[in-house]
Amino acid sequence: MPVALWRTGLVLGFLGFLGFCACLEQDCVLGMVGRPVSLPCFYPELSTFANFSVEWRRDDEVLLRAEWEEDGVVGEWSTESAAISADAALTGNLSLELPTVDPKEDQSYYSLFIISGENQSAPLCTVCLKIAASFSPPLLQREEAEREDETAFLCHSSGGFPEPAVYWLINDTEEPPEGSVRTLAASLPDSRLYNVTSHLMVNISKDSRVSCIIQNLSMNQTLTSTSYGVRGSPPVSRASKAMWIFSTALCVVVGVMVIAGVAYQIHLDRISKRKKDEYNRKHLKRGYKRRHLYREETVAMKPEPEETDV
Ligand SMILES: *[C@@H]1O[C@H](CO)[C@@H](O)[C@H](O)[C@H]1NC(C)=O
Ligand SMILES: *[C@@H]1O[C@H](CO)[C@@H](O)[C@H](O)[C@H]1NC(C)=O
Ligand SMILES: *[C@@H]1O[C@H](CO)[C@@H](O)[C@H](O)[C@H]1NC(C)=O
Ligand SMILES: *[C@@H]1O[C@H](CO)[C@@H](O)[C@H](O)[C@H]1NC(C)=O
Ligand SMILES: *[C@@H]1O[C@H](CO)[C@@H](O)[C@H](O)[C@H]1NC(C)=O
Ligand SMILES: *[C@@H]1O[C@H](CO)[C@@H](O)[C@H](O)[C@H]1NC(C)=O
Repeated sequence: MPVALWRTGLVLGFLGFLGFCACLEQDCVLGMVGRPVSLPCFYPELSTFANFSVEWRRDDEVLLRAEWEEDGVVGEWSTESAAISADAALTGNLSLELPTVDPKEDQSYYSLFIISGENQSAPLCTVCLKIAASFSPPLLQREEAEREDETAFLCHSSGGFPEPAVYWLINDTEEPPEGSVRTLAASLPDSRLYNVTSHLMVNISKDSRVSCIIQNLSMNQTLTSTSYGVRGSPPVSRASKAMWIFSTALCVVVGVMVIAGVAYQIHLDRISKRKKDEYNRKHLKRGYKRRHLYREETVAMKPEPEETDV
């Protein structure tokens, strides 16, 4: 059996090596900060081993160790709440589940080893993990320019990973002249997420459109904020926010008015129903009396035609 293990180990080691090469070509698993991620690994022939254990390691640090014996007893130990599925030995699904990921683990390699007795296989799976976090929508503001003939803009976005590409466009197509842009990306010390601030200082006409674009290439995320016209209207991101607040407030006000209207109508209906009931009660009595009278009249008048007939 150990020989077989070594042979499969060699083959799978080679496959793992191929996987490693694929990783170098940026074919990594993408983990989003604060969200769980699964690092895939499948090895269906596990049931051919009697006593064995598997280990998931991150750059030589053991994250998880699970042990199986002939009777299927499982012992498991892990750090950072890493886990594999409970029936991994049956299904061969040895994928590693991480409940959350951190920018510190960006570009690290995770490998799975099978250990039987003293012997350890080459890595069965090697998966690289790339970390990303989404940037906030850029806030575009016009600033006081130092020179009369120039216009200054500030663009700010925060909480993303990795460092983004930041660029500006004038009238949707033109890049600003060289030297007019100053961008500063700061990695926050505890979270390692990035805050990015970019300044643009240009000499453009009043009706030019200015856009700030923040691109997170790892996530294929592009965020744009546009300012329509240098003077007058405020930047779009703020305007749309204001519109959003206004429309929400309008909806709430209209909703309250409709509810009040309906409640008032129900109230009016009740009052009028009560009045109608009273009215009906009175008139029913009167109607009864009238019918009564009518019958008396007809009864009283009946004998007359009989008399004429005779
Ligand atoms: C597996 O482990 C059990 C208990 O440790 C032992 O009795 C058994 O002989 C082992 N089997 C093999 C094939 O090594
Ligand atoms: C493998 O197991 C993981 C959980 O450990 C699960 O998320 C994943 O969907 C499974 N894959 C397959 C193909 O069953
Ligand atoms: C480890 O492998 C060697 C051959 O490479 C073998 O001689 C030895 O018995 C194996 N040890 C165990 C505990 O399986
Ligand atoms: C990063 O940006 C956020 C939001 O704009 C701000 O609250 C925070 O103070 C900034 N941190 C640093 C270190 O610049
Ligand atoms: C941008 O377009 C407006 C008209 O749409 C034009 O007046 C302005 O000069 C253009 N700005 C630049 C810098 O080309
Ligand atoms: C990026 O996203 C766009 C649409 O959102 C999609 O068409 C494109 O294929 C994506 N590219 C990659 C590399 O995922």
